[in-house]
Amino acid sequence: MAFRIRKFEKSDFETLWRIDQACFDPQLAYSQREMAFYMRRPGAFTLVAEDESALQNKVRGNGVATAAIPSPPVVGFVVAESGRSGGHIITIDVIAAARRAGVGSALLRAAEEQLLRAGASAVALETPVNNASAIRFYKRHGYYVEKTVTGYYSNQIDALVMTKELAQSPVA
Ligand SMILES: CC(C)(COP(=O)(O)OP(=O)(O)OC[C@H]1O[C@@H](n2cnc3c(N)ncnc32)[C@H](O)[C@@H]1OP(=O)(O)O)[C@@H](O)C(=O)NCCC(=O)NCCS
Repeated sequence: MAFRIRKFEKSDFETLWRIDQACFDPQLAYSQREMAFYMRRPGAFTLVAEDESALQNKVRGNGVATAAIPSPPVVGFVVAESGRSGGHIITIDVIAAARRAGVGSALLRAAEEQLLRAGASAVALETPVNNASAIRFYKRHGYYVEKTVTGYYSNQIDALVMTKELAQSPVA
């Protein structure tokens, strides 16, 4: 899959919310209000992954590119924030059909780079203790389990807090 990471645009919101609904159980998925709240927090940013191969196939299939080229489909996104205590990954979601193709890794790396540029020296995130694939994914990216927070999600599911030090380049 050929994908590219770009900044969030307002018109993406509904699509991202639907992806979040599909990625998580109802007790974990955000309402539109919650998602908008996290995306608008001071220091927060959202990056989007779009599947460029889907678009290329469409254009090739028609033989010629028409004037009204559709937008490539969004296959994932990450919401992160930088604050006084460092960087924080709020959520990272990849549609089921696009998983294990490197999209999540590319989103996470892009978010970490942006957090580093914003001055963060470490990143933290929370993930449900029963989300084995996310835990594997974060460990693969160098995150360590720092602690468990009981009842973090709706007072029902415990969370692992995972952290990672970001490499700071030495000041020249
Ligand atoms: C977690 C998630 C973002 C990973 O996205 P992805 O695009 O599939 O991740 P990548 O393809 O970049 O995977 C990189 C590595 O992470 C690990 N990994 C990812 N998904 C995994 C899975 N289901 N089982 C085991 N390891 C997994 C693997 O080591 C993988 O490398 P490999 O495919 O070469 O073995 C995606 O599964 C997702 O959106 N899940 C639902 C939402 C979610 O749980 N988000 C995390 C919120 S806390």
